[in-house]
Amino acid sequence: MKILGTGSYLPERIVTNEELSEIVDTNDEWISTRTGIRTRRISAGETVSDLASKAAFAALEDAGISAEQVDMILLATMTGNALMPNTACLVQKKIGAKYASCLDVNAACSGFLYALNLANACLVSGMYKNILVIGAETLSKIIDWADRSTCVLFGDGAGAAVVAADSAKRYVSETGADGDRGEALKAGETGLGNFIVRREEKLNYYMTMNGQEVFKFAVKKVPECIGAVLKKAEVFLEEIDYFLLHQANVRIIASVAKRLGVNMEKMPVNLDKYGNTSAASIAILLDEIRKEGKLAEGKKIILAGFGGGLTWGAAYLEL
Ligand code: UT7
Repeated sequence: MKILGTGSYLPERIVTNEELSEIVDTNDEWISTRTGIRTRRISAGETVSDLASKAAFAALEDAGISAEQVDMILLATMTGNALMPNTACLVQKKIGAKYASCLDVNAACSGFLYALNLANACLVSGMYKNILVIGAETLSKIIDWADRSTCVLFGDGAGAAVVAADSAKRYVSETGADGDRGEALKAGETGLGNFIVRREEKLNYYMTMNGQEVFKFAVKKVPECIGAVLKKAEVFLEEIDYFLLHQANVRIIASVAKRLGVNMEKMPVNLDKYGNTSAASIAILLDEIRKEGKLAEGKKIILAGFGGGLTWGAAYLEL
């Protein structure tokens, strides 16, 4: 699988740590030292399909293909516009990808990696030729803005990549999940209610998180998963040019770098600007460092994510 083009889009509204300290009992010092986050973008009216479509347009332009050449749209999100139609169909309509099959993928912050895996499988099987893989979130709508333990961490945004089959470019991945630990990170319970049972009254719509449990899970699972991918791909750690990790907390990224024995210069960080954008974070970072000219032909990269589910994944890609 090869990447033909990438794009990203962030809502214009920048929210600083200082601004949040006027809403909840927090401060810039706590947020920046515990997480590395300084600002995040929050949607002031754009829905997740709006963000995803703008990232998709940019990726198509970069790839030099038209929307009509897209055979499938895979949209990783947990904050879709509605249960139905899926948000990928809304993106299809907005960008005019009238020949595309459309599917939303929900694996929380690992969503973009899961979607890339599906894309790779569809390309390798010959089912499709050009696939638009998007990670997009409006997490701000599932955040409890009175809960300081979560509201300072997340942001809205979208990133996209157009991928196509290329037998000369290897893609090797590893994903996993542990549903037993799903309670650690939850949002958007819909519950059950019908003419037989009353709808549960105490539904948990807003995000709740056991931060320390997720932190411990991430710093152990991400290096393990990267190690497994390198072994599968038969590639040495030293051969990797960049490790693009899910952007949740700079301390998690630094800990993974330390455990692997990798210099932080190989692990780009943009969470200081955008916070944690869940399924969008790796896609946005991929676009940014590509646009900086760091992903020239022949470079080797690792993408790695983790999040709600609990889910995780890593992928080795040749550019
Ligand atoms: O995408 C995947 C999803 N999420 C993650 O990857 C997050 C993983 N976890 C983390 O990044 C970290 O656990 C957090 C950043 C969420 C929290 O950092 P921590 O160092 O684990 O802090 P903590 O939860 O142990 O809280 C320490 C203190 C507590 O006060 P006490 O009990 O020590 O008095 C909290 O009440 O910090 C307090 N606190 C805050 N103080 C100021 C929690 N949130 C805030 C806040 N501002 N926003």
